[in-house]
Amino acid sequence: MSESTSEIAVENLTPEQAERELEYLAYEIARHDRRYYQEDAPSIYDSTYDALRARNLAIEVRFPQLKRDDSPSDKVGAAPVSKFSKVIHSVPMLSLGNAFNDEDVVDFSGKVRRFLKIADEVSLPITAEPKIDGVSATIRYEKGRLIVGATRGDGLVGEDITANLRTISDIPETLTGENVPDIVEVRGEVYMGHADFAALNARYESEGKSPFANPRNAAAGSLRQLDSAITASRPLRFFAYAWGEMSAMPATTQMNMVAAFKSFGFEVNPLMRRCENVEDLLEVYRDIESQRASLDYDIDGVVYKVDDLVLQGRLGFVSRAPRWAIAHKFPAEQATTILRDIEIQVGRTGALTPVAKLEKVKVGGVDVSNASLHNEDEIIRKNVRVGDTVIVQRAGDVIPQILGPVLEKRPENSAAYVFPDVCPACGSKAIKDVNPDTGKEDAIRRCSGGLICPAQAIEKLRHFVSRNAFDIEGMGAKQVEAFYADGRIKNPAEIFTLEKRDADFPKQLNDLEGWGELSANNLFAAISQRREIALNRFIYALGIRHVGATNAMLLARTYGTFEKLQAAMDAAEEEDSEAFQELLAVDKIGLVMIRSLRAFFAEPHNRDVLAQLLNEVTPIPVEAVRLDTAIADKKIVFTGSLVIMSRDEAKARAEALGAKVVGSVSKNTDLVVAGPGAGSKLKKAQELGIEVIDEETWIELSAG
Ligand code: IVH
Repeated sequence: MSESTSEIAVENLTPEQAERELEYLAYEIARHDRRYYQEDAPSIYDSTYDALRARNLAIEVRFPQLKRDDSPSDKVGAAPVSKFSKVIHSVPMLSLGNAFNDEDVVDFSGKVRRFLKIADEVSLPITAEPKIDGVSATIRYEKGRLIVGATRGDGLVGEDITANLRTISDIPETLTGENVPDIVEVRGEVYMGHADFAALNARYESEGKSPFANPRNAAAGSLRQLDSAITASRPLRFFAYAWGEMSAMPATTQMNMVAAFKSFGFEVNPLMRRCENVEDLLEVYRDIESQRASLDYDIDGVVYKVDDLVLQGRLGFVSRAPRWAIAHKFPAEQATTILRDIEIQVGRTGALTPVAKLEKVKVGGVDVSNASLHNEDEIIRKNVRVGDTVIVQRAGDVIPQILGPVLEKRPENSAAYVFPDVCPACGSKAIKDVNPDTGKEDAIRRCSGGLICPAQAIEKLRHFVSRNAFDIEGMGAKQVEAFYADGRIKNPAEIFTLEKRDADFPKQLNDLEGWGELSANNLFAAISQRREIALNRFIYALGIRHVGATNAMLLARTYGTFEKLQAAMDAAEEEDSEAFQELLAVDKIGLVMIRSLRAFFAEPHNRDVLAQLLNEVTPIPVEAVRLDTAIADKKIVFTGSLVIMSRDEAKARAEALGAKVVGSVSKNTDLVVAGPGAGSKLKKAQELGIEVIDEETWIELSAG
């Protein structure tokens, strides 16, 4: 994304901005899904994540034609990582819609009744049960024997964790009881109890390992062990509450299905109740809520399900969730404590994040001593000072947040917090972007020492060697990480002196594990080959914020040489200078990009590394853009597979001819190049009456 459209209200977005925003949201949501589902390390509040999803949906509702093929609205969770083999769920494992207050529950019941045409006075039994805060799993039995068990994954495909599930004593190896159907797929939640969690963490800490943040993460981490002996050593438990494929149904209601699972040998939650009306549901909700603190496991709400399975079948599903069920979430748990300090952490992308260091306090049964304060504005908005007594909240678990200070308890000598304007990790200037559409400053301050900041180093090096950047054969993300860790490569320039310095290290490259004479020499040769590199790749490789591959190409074409680009940035020091205004007048180079480039070039640390890099590497000018071609300024979509050219080549050709390559078809698209296997984009283009050509025609058209 070149510019931030995130602050523009959905109703004010232009189609172009909406398209860009949908692309950004798809990327961002997928990234957070991965962090949550695959890495068990969420990095944003659940509420922020929900807001991203809500915004995505709102934009799709306003611009239905822009909905992406990979829209997050059509997905649940994240696709599984590859270390376990895949299991395709015979019946998808979906998610639940949320209710946040009593009114939402009344709405839910009303909608169900209207859908089924059931009058208010007719009884409609609905069950209520705790929503367990663990990890969902499905276990398949054939002829009463456990065959396979899997995680939810993205809802359609999960990971095969059979061996790990077998270690959980609540999950029977063989089903017991009468009338067990031939195929039974039981679904439920794997979780860790509070007492077990505390003991596990205490053991971890005594062994010098970093403890789990909460029982959910501990359960998730334990389930994804490749060695099931480790899982077996973790005190995991399981509640059965749902099912997938069943060759025969042992019951006709939700309540009795769960009773059947109990008779098969599963643990089921004892707090589940069957209610006749909404008032009863809300009463059970309050009852369960009042028991929450004394339960030995985490719950984050109450799930309501229409009891009658025939009615469930009629209600069916809508997008990611059943119409017949809803999760009524508990409000966040709170506590007060003292804010001892504010520490600034620098993220991998250079964002400076203030972290509140708190006097340890229990919030909803979990010890809390850190909380995120998001950013500088948040500290001001919340009016918190070091020394304050603050209210802390755990919303939907994970990272606790600070709601605000208890002003009556503010110490007399306290002072407002002054946010640093230099990066604590490297000393470079830390600056904020300004959004040109709104004129507002970005809330996040970022370190501008991209090339030298240790906090960003690995990320920047990974980017530097990535496919659209230096693309050095034999040097991927894994290698730069290892080289950074052993001190061989600390900045991009050092890649090119690796061979020269090889003898200085106690172990030479060919003596390192996984390396030999041949592979080391091949790597040195591959590095040498890149000493000459296309200017656009060189610019892109620098990892300057807002300068993605497309903008790097634009800059390369506009300036021709790196020296000219650098000179233009130096000349444009003041924003009211002529040079700056000239820059701004260049079509498509926006204020945000210029500011970001300026900040990068103004940082002496970056200049040093750039100078070192330019000693080693020569950027080769790229051809200027031709503006006299048939497709200049046209928006082109490539879809399906291209047989003759690679996608990258087709894109580069289109851009060289002045066209813009976009990801999805909208009424603003001028041309669609469709290859074999083209699907929804081709269909949309045909519906919108947009010109569609095949690859051969494209090659003729783009030949000159
Ligand atoms: S029912 C088709 N019941 O909540 C719906 N889910 O947000 C099947 N969960 O993925 C789910 N306790 O991991 C159901 N008593 C309960 C639950 C429960 C926890 C989790 C489950 C699901 C998620 C949906």
